[in-house]
Amino acid sequence: MTEQWTTLRPIIRSRRVVRTYGPQPVTTEDIRSVLEAARWALAAGNARLLHCLVVRDPATIELVGKVSPGMSRQPPALVVICLDHARARDLRVQLERDTAVWMDIGAAMMNMSLAAHALGLGSCPVTSFSRSGVRTMLDLPEHLSPEVLLQLGWRDPDAPARVLRPGASTRYTVDDFTSWERIGGPPPPE
Ligand SMILES: Cc1cc2nc3c(=O)[nH]c(=O)nc-3n(C[C@H](O)[C@H](O)[C@H](O)COP(=O)(O)O)c2cc1C
Repeated sequence: MTEQWTTLRPIIRSRRVVRTYGPQPVTTEDIRSVLEAARWALAAGNARLLHCLVVRDPATIELVGKVSPGMSRQPPALVVICLDHARARDLRVQLERDTAVWMDIGAAMMNMSLAAHALGLGSCPVTSFSRSGVRTMLDLPEHLSPEVLLQLGWRDPDAPARVLRPGASTRYTVDDFTSWERIGGPPPPE
């Protein structure tokens, strides 16, 4: 056990998605910290094919919400994680064959969610949205495709606490999804 793990573990463990936000704005400084976490995320071949669009204008967020069934009601900020197809072409990354880029998007999304949580902010990724609708609402250029909307905001203190289904917190343990040495192999003794 290192000091770093002692610090990181509770951050990873306590992060949960937040879907109800208070009206307080998210500062530029906090958003830049969240973006910095994306900057340092794992990236296949270090290709860096993502482009983030930060949106805080409430009217624009409302428009995006109209074509995004997965979105919460009026988050104060959105980071739209886009894939840059022009850069992919330049680097000869074949997006139709190369699944690694989807992992890059996930890695950036996870780093950002953890950074937000460490800053005291709530976040929730959204993939349930109309690609063409979001493209139109945000006037995205042809070479950028929206892949994830990361909602950011301060947790609404008046929102009821999230109720976990009975047993949900213990439902999924490390041993549920891990085999050792061969599929089905048990964990070694401690
Ligand atoms: C790729 C991806 C897409 C998601 N899309 C949505 C979404 O459209 N709307 C939403 O409310 N939550 C979305 N979520 C959040 C998950 O529902 C959430 O992470 C899951 O229920 C586990 O909750 P926890 O992160 O608090 O442990 C998404 C999560 C991931 C990883």
